[in-house]
Amino acid sequence: VILTQDELKKIAAYKAVEYVESGMVLGLGTGSTAWFAVNRIGELLQQGKLKNIVGIPTSKKTHEQALSLGIPLSDLDKHPVLDLAIDGADEVDPYLNLVKGRGGSLLREKMVEGACRKFVVIVDESKLVDHLGGSGLAMPVEIVPFCWKFTAYRLQRLFEYAGCVAKLRTCGENGEPVVTDNANYIVDLYFKKDIGDLKVASDSILRLAGVVEHGMFLDMATTVIIAGELGVTVKNK
Ligand code: A5P
Repeated sequence: VILTQDELKKIAAYKAVEYVESGMVLGLGTGSTAWFAVNRIGELLQQGKLKNIVGIPTSKKTHEQALSLGIPLSDLDKHPVLDLAIDGADEVDPYLNLVKGRGGSLLREKMVEGACRKFVVIVDESKLVDHLGGSGLAMPVEIVPFCWKFTAYRLQRLFEYAGCVAKLRTCGENGEPVVTDNANYIVDLYFKKDIGDLKVASDSILRLAGVVEHGMFLDMATTVIIAGELGVTVKNK
């Protein structure tokens, strides 16, 4: 049997929901993989198999989904420490470092997932990479809209050694900027070469005025669940 990517995402998501226990404060991820996990949590609540869950959504979209499922919701102000978060990722390296944010929700994801005792990441095997940023796909950075070209230029300059190209994320026919849940823009960085030490890269991005957050999630995942054609692999930190 050849499984579709959606079936693999669902398998990983259902496996992660096995970590959920009644009474937990839960970070609810964003994206097509996390969608299956949030849906499953809602289902188990409705069946009475889970009780007293409090969900902290990582985006407006997930907020809507959780509301429609009747999952009780709260926020980080009221619950600064979470038991567990479940979310997808765009890239996972062998040390369980992640790239996230191709769905645009990186800032809230990083705030919520940084406040969790346990962070379970769910992916299909297509997300595995040797080096972050090496897949030729976007490394998202959330920036303030004020003089975004200037910030994009400075980001590109920062990674000149890696052949970086910085592009504003746009949508629609007229190429309107994508606006995040926090009213910011996103610049996607594309690298031709290895960016080198990730912690150094992370720090130098965050030092630029105008940058709000980037999509590298270093040393945050405690577990990664990978669904592949040959079954499910669980990697723990
Ligand atoms: C949202 O901003 C992202 O961080 C997602 O968690 C990530 O893009 C994974 O999404 P998919 O599960 O849809 O691939």
